[in-house]
Amino acid sequence: MSGTEARHPLWDLPVRLSHWVIALCLPASWWTAEEGLLELHAWVGYTVLSLVLARLAWGIFGSPQARFGDFLRGPRAIIAYLREGRRDTPGHNPLGGWSAMTLWGLLLVQAVSGLYNSDGILFDGPLYHAAGDAVTDKLGAVHAWLFNAILAFVGLHIATVAWYQWGRGEQLLVPMLRGSAPGREGTGPAAPLWRALLILDLVALALLAIFAAAPEPVSSWW
Ligand code: HEM
Ligand code: HEM
Repeated sequence: MSGTEARHPLWDLPVRLSHWVIALCLPASWWTAEEGLLELHAWVGYTVLSLVLARLAWGIFGSPQARFGDFLRGPRAIIAYLREGRRDTPGHNPLGGWSAMTLWGLLLVQAVSGLYNSDGILFDGPLYHAAGDAVTDKLGAVHAWLFNAILAFVGLHIATVAWYQWGRGEQLLVPMLRGSAPGREGTGPAAPLWRALLILDLVALALLAIFAAAPEPVSSWW
């Protein structure tokens, strides 16, 4: 192994795959909603929901830099980073960690509000009949306007990444694509892939069980 080659990935495969699949799902969710392809839209949404939940679990069981303990820092560390650029992990800096949490939070609320949404004609989300009109109306409104907030935050995210990458000459893109880059390597071995697959399976099964237990529409024919 040469000196420039990474021993441990900074971003393991589950982190990179979940990142890029979620990124692709955003335009896909917008397009499918615009075209009225709501069955497909829902599947894109379930993909986002499963990946975000699995990524949050990976924050506990994942590789060193994937873990919350590595990148979630308090106000002191944030101030020290802003004043002196001080950071103690090769992973997310103290601001980047909270920005990732914000993006996951927004995506989670968007996907969950979708579960309670309906177009009022042909498609009902799997939990639409689990709540009253007052709740589903509110969540429908949340679903419509939160997408704009997500777009704004993603725009800020991409602009920030571009500024670090080309303005400050820091290597962000290569590690998110290939796992690591010279000077940006992980601090320990990657967690095994089977663990990530198990987590994803458990998340998907839990969602299926919740959807299966949800009330069906009451027939209006009787
Ligand atoms: C379009 C929707 C996008 C969303 C929702 C999103 C969200 C996120 C999140 C949540 C993270 C933290 C990753 C983790 O720890 O697992 C992250 C990191 C990152 N994203 Fe994105 N992202 C998006 C698009 C992009 C695009 C288009 C680029 C390329 C310009 C990009 C470049 C990066 C990079 C380089 C990092 C790692 C930052 C670091 O080194 O600390 N993202 N993104
Ligand atoms: C993060 C994932 C998701 C994103 C980004 C997203 C985004 C969107 C967007 C942009 C719209 C158009 C809103 C409007 O202008 O009225 C929409 C509509 C809709 N979404 Fe989602 N969605 C997601 C997940 C889901 C899920 C999981 C479901 C249900 C299973 C769902 C159900 C719906 C329905 C039924 C509509 C149509 C509402 C109407 O016609 O008034 N969405 N979504």
